[in-house]
Amino acid sequence: MPPISADLTPADLTATLPSLDELWMPFTANRAFKRAPRILVAAKDMYYTTSDGRQILDGTAGLWCVNAGHCRDSITAAIREQAGLLDYAPPFQLGHPLAFELASQLAKLLPKGVDRIFFGNSGSEAVDTALKIALAYWQAKGEPRRVRFVGRARGYHGVGFGGIAVGGIEANRKQFAGQLLPAVDHLPHTHDLAANAFTRGQPKTGAHFADALETLTKTHDPSTIAAVIVEPVAGSTGVLIPPVGYLERIREICDRHGILLIFDEVITGFGRLGAPFAAQKFGVVPDMLTVAKGITNATVPMGAVCARREVYDAIVDAAANGIELFHGYTYSGHPLAAAAGLATLELYRREDLFARAASLESYWADAVHALRGLPHVIDLRNIGLVGAIELEPRPGAPGARAYETFLKCFEAGLMIRSTGDTLALSPPLIVERAQIDRMFETVSAVLKQVA
Ligand SMILES: Cc1ncc(COP(=O)(O)O)c(C=O)c1O
Repeated sequence: MPPISADLTPADLTATLPSLDELWMPFTANRAFKRAPRILVAAKDMYYTTSDGRQILDGTAGLWCVNAGHCRDSITAAIREQAGLLDYAPPFQLGHPLAFELASQLAKLLPKGVDRIFFGNSGSEAVDTALKIALAYWQAKGEPRRVRFVGRARGYHGVGFGGIAVGGIEANRKQFAGQLLPAVDHLPHTHDLAANAFTRGQPKTGAHFADALETLTKTHDPSTIAAVIVEPVAGSTGVLIPPVGYLERIREICDRHGILLIFDEVITGFGRLGAPFAAQKFGVVPDMLTVAKGITNATVPMGAVCARREVYDAIVDAAANGIELFHGYTYSGHPLAAAAGLATLELYRREDLFARAASLESYWADAVHALRGLPHVIDLRNIGLVGAIELEPRPGAPGARAYETFLKCFEAGLMIRSTGDTLALSPPLIVERAQIDRMFETVSAVLKQVA
């Protein structure tokens, strides 16, 4: 098979497709996909190219991760250069400059006091690392009884054993039945269609959903709860936007009982909401914050836990001489990922992309809410450059209508995401107004065709 290159014609690209049988695709209906594959072979800025030579407008920044748009030259060049200079350096008891430099640069973007960075390779690893750090923290503080975690219904925290345990998606757990983590509770989710349908931005009512945490502290001795983990905006289960005052109340209850608060910012980080992180957008600072995706503009896999300095100090200072935290990955702070991360942060800064997202928020919101009244639409939600269109489920076939809409949009040259009966859009932050118009015109036209 010849290498796939930008010079190939669409016919060449189709001819170069390898056998599809061997690859076991993640979170994919393998049989259906292999009968009618959708193959992407190239990307630039706001567009993907398919194997049949079509241009697809990227309405989702890949999987909420290509925040600066595709194949940006400065990032590509940094990766290429690094690959020729230092391909790999072991991260245990050795270091290389770019990992330290990226940690420093990232710390500058984070809320004050959250400035100790532990690198991994994905959001899932970041989540499991944060849960382990929480446990190690309480041991270091002399409170080893704090082993209980609190997650939230409809939370997605990746696919590690820790992440699926605190996550609130039953489908992601039930194939793997058994003990995941010894003690996990879940808060209710905050989605309240009856009270908040068609709200622009944060819903006004719903802060009371946080009170379930107070109830849990009464059910259990609060001094057994290690940490609460939530996505500030739940992304993967349909874009659930925190009601006004909700995150503040969660923080306040955690503070009252000495519980660590972890924000999973794998989606909300790096400008998605028009601020560096959701922590700044909502003015609520967690004790740890997990990131991935946009950290390298998705070019090289990377994730990280960003911890308050006090968390790091407690663990490091309490340890005897030698290794303080028995955790790490072969590829923690990998040189290629670090180079990509540095070039990405520099690009975000140079093009002021977080401010750009903020400046587009109201135009985006208008575009989302203009879909009101279209067939099947029962709710519209927006925050930052994230939009959600919730559809009435087709009787007896939950999710089918949204999935069909996704397929038809793809045929019409637009990439959106469907999750359950919700369509989600989250374009690269370089999106132009005309492209926003095209996205919603396409969705609108497709919704009129879908049964
Ligand atoms: C909030 C959140 N946490 C964790 C993850 C897992 O990240 P990864 O797929 O990189 O493991 C995701 C992925 O979408 C996510 O949205």
